[in-house]
Amino acid sequence: AMASQIPLSLLLFSAETVDVSVINKKTWKQDQAIVLFDAVASTSFNTEELSPSVLQGFSCSSIQGLTTRRIQSLVFASRNRQGRAKVVFKETQLTCMYNLLRGNLSQKFTDYPSDMLLYFGDNNVDTSNCRSYFTALGAADFTVLSSVLNRESLLLNNARSCLGISGVSLSRNNVEVLGNMACTLQSSYIESSDPLILEKLKACKNFSGSQVTAMETLLLSGKTPTYLRIYKQLLFKCLPLSFFFKQTVKKRFLKSFMPQLRREKVQKRKLKALFKQISVVRTKRGAGCTVGNITHVTISDPSFPFGYDSTQFDLCLDVPVVKNNLNTITEKVDDDDFQKVILVKLNQAYPSSIPDEQVQLLRSVSRVALLNDIFKWNVTRIDTLAALMDSNDGPWAAAESKEIITKYLSVSGNSLGSSELNAIGSNLCSLNTSTLRTITPDSIRNANPVDVASCSAEQKRVLYEIRNSSLSSQSASPTAYYHLISPYLGKNECCLLALSVFCTLSDKTPL
Ligand SMILES: *[C@@H]1O[C@H](CO)[C@@H](O)[C@H](O)[C@H]1NC(C)=O
Ligand SMILES: *[C@@H]1O[C@H](CO)[C@@H](O)[C@H](O)[C@H]1NC(C)=O
Ligand SMILES: *[C@@H]1O[C@H](CO)[C@@H](O)[C@H](O)[C@H]1NC(C)=O
Ligand SMILES: *[C@@H]1O[C@H](CO)[C@@H](O)[C@H](O)[C@H]1NC(C)=O
Ligand SMILES: *[C@@H]1O[C@H](CO)[C@@H](O)[C@H](O)[C@H]1NC(C)=O
Ligand SMILES: *[C@@H]1O[C@H](CO)[C@@H](O)[C@H](O)[C@H]1NC(C)=O
Repeated sequence: AMASQIPLSLLLFSAETVDVSVINKKTWKQDQAIVLFDAVASTSFNTEELSPSVLQGFSCSSIQGLTTRRIQSLVFASRNRQGRAKVVFKETQLTCMYNLLRGNLSQKFTDYPSDMLLYFGDNNVDTSNCRSYFTALGAADFTVLSSVLNRESLLLNNARSCLGISGVSLSRNNVEVLGNMACTLQSSYIESSDPLILEKLKACKNFSGSQVTAMETLLLSGKTPTYLRIYKQLLFKCLPLSFFFKQTVKKRFLKSFMPQLRREKVQKRKLKALFKQISVVRTKRGAGCTVGNITHVTISDPSFPFGYDSTQFDLCLDVPVVKNNLNTITEKVDDDDFQKVILVKLNQAYPSSIPDEQVQLLRSVSRVALLNDIFKWNVTRIDTLAALMDSNDGPWAAAESKEIITKYLSVSGNSLGSSELNAIGSNLCSLNTSTLRTITPDSIRNANPVDVASCSAEQKRVLYEIRNSSLSSQSASPTAYYHLISPYLGKNECCLLALSVFCTLSDKTPL
């Protein structure tokens, strides 16, 4: 498990020194696997024994110089296999595989990674085999398709003519064949197809609003007796779907369901939306706290703060209760207006400055803070910085992020070391270049790669220079060097730096 913490720059091996059987037993992140793959691919190690963790490193730049046979066996090794995790690839990896092998593709579609099938052309599938093609394609993750390629509608049209589908009502059998393609279907298909489609939709990562409405229509059509069970499972994906819950049922439902949703780390955005939808505003102003004083016991209830609107929440919540139960309150309160109430009370509890121990408990509440609130926060410790920067609690605006990091750095002894870089992640782009220049090559070498997509060209240039000098002691191969350096470069900078061979290999979207 520790292997995934190894910095990229320590992963440079040459094919002569690499012990693939050791590498193969460890768990790698994809950016690590891409660096490792260079050396692994060119050994004679049996590709069928490579782990998904290693195989996910396939890249067009790593397989240069390999025979077509070897490339083919690396692709075959990445097919979906029973009892083994799926090998997850990005679109550029999949189109690269396709382009390399397109001249000699077999009709045994299950030999290929299912996601690669998304890119097969009409001429790669014999008409007599189209059904088995679509059956294998049904296991693919359609969300890897970028919309520019417009593959979704093309695939659907081909499937329609292959399976003889006319109209939008899909039979049970066709739904079974199409599998995950259900996730790309419009509402008209969903509401008029066999209810089996709901089972298929459970596997989708995301839904549009009209897909959700169509599912509700189908659920309530009475065609499916088990709708409540499926509904609950769907809720994980497409909150909120709360319209047929009575007020009393809602509370019971939330009690059992909210803790489950929190455990599943459902996005805050969705929890906020669910809470808004399920809550009803029913109190008059000026009546004082009528719902009930909020105590330690109230807060411990899994459905808390259900039943309060933001006015009642304000009136019923005392400052000392916030001060003494901050951890439990911020864990459960997702609504923006409620969160603002919490900040106001916290400011009342601490008139001059709020200590690190409390600041690090704020979670997503921190994201509704204004600069004026943040001025009062103590951010002197790395654990406070890391807690505030946790991306699970939502994104930061640049000004607020800069203020927090600057506060931390203003404490004597604190600097932008590796732990800080790992904690800050892409929020690094909120800092100006003079602050960025204080990062040492050592810190950047030992830190995880930073996502600099939101940095300006000037910021990227500064980070690139530090990254470059951190690698000067390493005799990396050009491809490995490229993998280490490319996260810090935009496409243009990359090409300016005469790395154009690699840019054209990795950055363009083929097809
Ligand atoms: C095509 O692939 C098959 C294996 O699927 C291989 O045996 C054959 O040699 C390849 N043909 C060419 C022309 O590369
Ligand atoms: C999910 O769908 C919504 C609305 O279509 C979109 O805004 C959002 O980016 C999607 N999320 C993912 C992870 O695809
Ligand atoms: C709620 O708390 C206030 C003081 O904070 C108190 O005056 C009031 O009696 C309490 N109400 C109930 C119902 O306990
Ligand atoms: C906040 O930090 C300052 C300076 O480090 C310190 O003097 C002050 O006591 C801290 N405040 C609290 C509430 O811990
Ligand atoms: C960069 O940011 C730091 C911290 O906020 C600030 O002290 C410094 O003046 C800024 N430098 C420039 C050139 O804006
Ligand atoms: C990167 O570092 C090498 C030496 O380590 C140096 O020769 C080269 O000029 C640097 N490139 C840039 C663009 O700074």
